[in-house]
Amino acid sequence: MSAAPLRSRFPILEEETYLASHSLGAVPASAKEALEGYHEAWARQGIGAWEGPWAEAIATFNEQIAGILGAPEGTVAPMLNATRGMAGVASALDPSQGRDKIVMTDLEFTTSYPLWRGFEELGAEIEVVESPDGVRVPAEAIADAVDESTLLVHTCQVYFRSGALQQLEPVVEAAREAGAYSLVDGYQSVGVVPVDVAELGVDFFVGGSHKWLCGGPGAGYLYVREDVAEELDPRLRGWFGLADPFAYEQLEGRGPPAEGARRFLGGTPNVPGLVAAREGLEAIREVGLDRIRQRSLDLTDRILVHADAQDLTVRTPREEDRRGGMVCLDFEGAEQATDELAEQGIVVDWRPDCGIRVSPHFYNTEDEIDELFGALARIRG
Ligand SMILES: Cc1ncc(COP(=O)(O)O)c(C=O)c1O
Repeated sequence: MSAAPLRSRFPILEEETYLASHSLGAVPASAKEALEGYHEAWARQGIGAWEGPWAEAIATFNEQIAGILGAPEGTVAPMLNATRGMAGVASALDPSQGRDKIVMTDLEFTTSYPLWRGFEELGAEIEVVESPDGVRVPAEAIADAVDESTLLVHTCQVYFRSGALQQLEPVVEAAREAGAYSLVDGYQSVGVVPVDVAELGVDFFVGGSHKWLCGGPGAGYLYVREDVAEELDPRLRGWFGLADPFAYEQLEGRGPPAEGARRFLGGTPNVPGLVAAREGLEAIREVGLDRIRQRSLDLTDRILVHADAQDLTVRTPREEDRRGGMVCLDFEGAEQATDELAEQGIVVDWRPDCGIRVSPHFYNTEDEIDELFGALARIRG
């Protein structure tokens, strides 16, 4: 696949050597018109916008995310962010009913710890499975931690600190066999690594649009397996999670929940965020995840070759089926080098216990990778 014809759709690529899609994906120029359309409907149609373009924006976002995840209709709901998706799941679980253990790893994104630690106050026990090398966690180690007392297993598909791709099948399988739920955080994988949530059989899958999906903030999502949604009644539920929100009933109790993932909704979805996300999601669909994955593997291979030539420490698994779209490179002075690269218009970022994170996406070129390493060689002298 040639990246050239697509590049002109992403304005930032004219300005920068942009290799930070694990953090914030490049936004297509067309998102500007989409947002102008949002404003236009608001300005000219007033409340009429709700029943027209805004309702459509919500439905389109759900369809787009479902398409990317391989999720059946009705199993995806928009969330303000991935954390809100996790919180919705937590609010549907009860650690006082015989199962109280939450299994997670020590490589999850920062948000997962305060979230599930908060659940400890309701009686949950957290078991954190440690990575032996700070890069990956063997799937068997997670599976071994799952037992009859496990309520939920939570893991990332790709870890933010190392770019390691988790083998999810044994984890989901172990949860299922033990009668526990499984939750996958796909924020660092969806958009660059193909996933099929239905085939995987996972119970919950959360993520958002502002990284590899090029969709901007405020457009997170929650997938809930069909049969799992029907057996749960999230306490973090509001009028949009009711079977008929627009009946405006004076409810005695909590009211009948909507079908499927929609029951996890609270209030009004973040329409401008969903509108802004549409263009990035469409670009991903258009290019296709299999092509994106192949392109990503080719470009990350090139990074590994350069890194070895410059004797940098690679903190990402090298095997193709064990890495996502990001490569972490470490060396003395890596944090400062990140700033110097930025001064030269080369955008990457730095994280502790990781080093420089480099993330080419489908719109990047081989030349940009070479430029990064040329600059690194000069900076490091
Ligand atoms: C793996 C992972 N999960 C979750 C998040 C954050 O999720 P949110 O801010 O949408 O709650 C991030 C990064 O921002 C991440 O890398």
